[in-house]
Amino acid sequence: MSEHIRTELADGVLTVTLNRPDKKNALTQAMYTGLAEAAERARTDDAVRVLLFRAEGDSFCAGNDIQDFISLGSQTQTPSDLPVFRFLKSLADLDKPAVAAARGRAVGVGMTMLLNCDLVVLAEDALLSVPFVNLAIAPEAASSLLLPAVIGHQRAFEMLAFGEAVNGRTALAWGMANRAVPADQVDATAAALAAQVAARAPNSIRKTKRLMRDAEALWDLMQREGEAFVSQMRSPEAMEAFMAFTQKRAPDFSKVG
Ligand code: COA
Repeated sequence: MSEHIRTELADGVLTVTLNRPDKKNALTQAMYTGLAEAAERARTDDAVRVLLFRAEGDSFCAGNDIQDFISLGSQTQTPSDLPVFRFLKSLADLDKPAVAAARGRAVGVGMTMLLNCDLVVLAEDALLSVPFVNLAIAPEAASSLLLPAVIGHQRAFEMLAFGEAVNGRTALAWGMANRAVPADQVDATAAALAAQVAARAPNSIRKTKRLMRDAEALWDLMQREGEAFVSQMRSPEAMEAFMAFTQKRAPDFSKVG
């Protein structure tokens, strides 16, 4: 497992910690493998009642590692073989409760994984954004369905088209979270919710979650989103956006057709 993903099982709660704080917990392919292994274990190991995602440092997750985007954009590997898809499938398949604790920035997949969780605790001043269009790519993790379903089409379109962040209080008001608390209470609040749900009747919770969502349809959509995402990732406009990020400048899309 990647050194940047830590897992710990205690009292039925499998806690998964994103541990790459110097890069704002941006996710590499190795980290996706670690996350997928944890979510797969959560589903299959009877000792696990709940999966809890949390992070070290001041940001939950700055999304996919942009250096990885650059190298993947020039590869011909079949997209479905990428560890990111293994992680997304493990999220779609997960029929036990997933809890998330997010402070600071939650960007891209760092935000869309929250949409796949059942109980979400945010810092009041957390900043959630889905800047896929800023990077000339496309939504993932079933967010093209889940985000408008949770907050409505117009708000979702604005978040996706302009990539601007909403804070934890607004996210709570819009239905994207269960609690918004001061940043220093996020981990404790999420751990308490995880312990509470871990004590509920396990098969009843599992069947309830299964009935509430169509796992197969979610995975189907994730794959269709993946096709748009990967073809965009290899496009000149995305390459311009990635280079602009690494060169710390604004992208210039005026010359791409
Ligand atoms: N991929 C790779 N590295 C990333 C990263 C990412 N997605 N996000 C942040 N980092 C790195 C930065 O390059 C920087 O590295 P350095 O110290 O070697 O220069 C370090 O993490 C700290 O980031 P920095 O930008 O200095 O922090 P900040 O507090 O000013 O801003 C963010 C934080 C998250 C707002 C900003 O880093 C950002 O916009 N990141 C990109 C988010 C994104 O577009 N993700 C993809 C979504 S699909």
